[in-house]
Amino acid sequence: MNGSRARAVYRPYDGSAESQRGLLVIGGSGELGSALVRAAAEAAETPTVSGVRAVWATYRTRRPSVCTPVGSKAPSVRWFYLDTADRRATSDLIQRASTEIGPLLTVVFCAVPKHGGAAGPGGDDIRSGIVDHVLYAAEATKLAGMVEGAERSSCRFVAISTDQVFDGVPPHPPYTTDAPRRPLNPYGHYKVEMEDTLQNIHHPDLVIARTSLILTLGMQPHEDGKAIAFLRSALIETHEKPLVLFTDEIRNMSWSNDLAEALVEVATAIRCERVTMDGDTATVIHLACPETTNRFALAQRLLSTRWSEYRHRAAGRITPGLSAESGLRRPLDLTMDVTSMAETGLVTRTRLRSIFEYLQ
Ligand SMILES: NC(=O)c1ccc[n+]([C@@H]2O[C@H](COP(=O)([O-])OP(=O)(O)OC[C@H]3O[C@@H](n4cnc5c(N)ncnc54)[C@H](OP(=O)(O)O)[C@@H]3O)[C@@H](O)[C@H]2O)c1
Repeated sequence: MNGSRARAVYRPYDGSAESQRGLLVIGGSGELGSALVRAAAEAAETPTVSGVRAVWATYRTRRPSVCTPVGSKAPSVRWFYLDTADRRATSDLIQRASTEIGPLLTVVFCAVPKHGGAAGPGGDDIRSGIVDHVLYAAEATKLAGMVEGAERSSCRFVAISTDQVFDGVPPHPPYTTDAPRRPLNPYGHYKVEMEDTLQNIHHPDLVIARTSLILTLGMQPHEDGKAIAFLRSALIETHEKPLVLFTDEIRNMSWSNDLAEALVEVATAIRCERVTMDGDTATVIHLACPETTNRFALAQRLLSTRWSEYRHRAAGRITPGLSAESGLRRPLDLTMDVTSMAETGLVTRTRLRSIFEYLQ
């Protein structure tokens, strides 16, 4: 697959009523999905500024509470139950969204089966959730977007991929979108298959956004995302086992609320030109903070800026370690080149903050 050779060109939403889009967030109850639903609901308060006219979102097991932006009178998100394994239900919902909140619609697919993180063992159900379910939704979006007589598709599909498609063997220059993909774990393999499957359907308006470790620091511990919750719960455990955090696993970690803002841009950008060499090719971007870091540095930063109550417990317990010497075969340096965000015109306004900027 070649992401940069056949790049579509987008430009930011221009304030016009006819370019506003409805947003359907599949997996709106997850870590990234719920941040996106919040950001999109906020954006829908001022459609002429944001380009978002309405927001629909799906959940499967965890129905989120009603999302009402601060200062707004009405909840601006409509929630739907959806199991993405149900191809018919997925297709019906996309078709309905295109009719009711379209005609321009962007479907952002944030759902992913529980897979135990990038190091998880994988399995048929996980593969199917990552590859087949995304394909069902993308195909339904392609179909819904074919409007007779129209030059362009009215429906955009945005799939979320991962830096785990790369092997992370150092040293290497930051991975560009067309760098060779050589995943080391089943999750990465399934995401490669997902990317290739999506390329093969020749959807006329499809974006694959690869991101890295997602961070969400809640106001309350139960609102933390998975990576931060792992650190917090390890720190509040009473036993004295050392917590080894790798310093050589380098990631473009990004905050979920920044990613959500950026995804609103991706969802509402105007497709203005297509430069393809062989038909409709998906646009691949690296959607992440340009600055890289590691989990040890993240824990240190959280402790020095936020988690004063855990400091005494952390002292001496948090130990830096090397993944390369751990016996685990995990990707080390997954540093990505993120210039594709601006180059494609998909993300030109949002700044994705580093842990050092975010945690002050
Ligand atoms: N988290 C990271 O660090 C990270 C890094 C790189 C890429 N990504 C990618 O980013 C995307 C979002 O990840 P995330 O961490 O936000 O996921 P998450 O927190 O685990 O949320 C998963 C979402 O998928 C939904 N879901 C799971 N199975 C479903 C099914 N069969 N039908 C419908 N919905 C289903 C869940 O709904 P319920 O909860 O309601 O069941 C939930 O909304 C994924 O594509 C992931 O691979 C994540």
